[in-house]
Amino acid sequence: MTMRIVQSIDELRNALLPFRAAQIGFAPTMGFLHQGHQTLFRRAADENSIAVASVFVNPTQFNDPADLEKYPRDPYGDTVRAREAGIGILWMPEPRHMYAPDHTTTVSVARLTHGLCGATRPGHFDGVATVVTKLLNAVQPTRAYFGQKDFQQLAVIRRLVRDLDMPVQIVGVPTVREPDGLAMSSRNVHLSTSERQSALALSRALFAAARSWEQGERNVDRLVSDVTATVTAEPDLRIDYINAVDPDDLHDLAGLTLGHGRGVVMALAVFCGKTRLIDNLRLDAPNA
Ligand code: PAF
Repeated sequence: MTMRIVQSIDELRNALLPFRAAQIGFAPTMGFLHQGHQTLFRRAADENSIAVASVFVNPTQFNDPADLEKYPRDPYGDTVRAREAGIGILWMPEPRHMYAPDHTTTVSVARLTHGLCGATRPGHFDGVATVVTKLLNAVQPTRAYFGQKDFQQLAVIRRLVRDLDMPVQIVGVPTVREPDGLAMSSRNVHLSTSERQSALALSRALFAAARSWEQGERNVDRLVSDVTATVTAEPDLRIDYINAVDPDDLHDLAGLTLGHGRGVVMALAVFCGKTRLIDNLRLDAPNA
């Protein structure tokens, strides 16, 4: 099937008309596509009759204008990688297609957005929740695919879809890593050679925490302080947060010794030079 590229919401809806009775898979992205995105696309293509992807660098989720400005873009490469990964309709809107000049409505998910990335990125999750609502409303997919690397984002989207009764199944897809463990991210392109080397401490620390968990460590503060020590030992790295949280409601588990059957996600955000990287691992099921 040849891939169609569309821009406006009307064009998208027309392209989707023949598929309305079929299963539609959707993977929203901000472009600069890598193998992590392609894994979402392939799942969307394999599990549905048609796969739709969007590439839209959403201005409202950047709390720092400089970050928006330097967000990497590669529209041509994106079309090649989307086609390669089985996308049938690639939606590449401009901000004017998504936001009326007097756009007024914001979708805001309380509580889940207060900690972790929400604590240092005010307004970020309002931007994400609002654009994801708009993207899902435009595509009306059967299933929508999001990476587990953005673990808080995934929890926020699951909650908003449940709370607003949106008829879509949210599928979380495991983080895709480079062979040396670094979680794939469009932002990795900003890392210098030495920063990239330092950045390996993030996944190394998470895998070590999963091994400690497997060996029976259930004291959350000890797990967090071991991760902190590994990250702090590297040059170029500055911690934004390192928290062990409940997988569903994201509340901080600091101070607890966890009982049998209790899940935990170790989540971190670290500045590597000027680049902010995030990663996380579910310690009780590290390959989930
Ligand atoms: O994860 C992303 O790339 C973005 O936050 C998303 C979900 C496409 C919304 O802009």
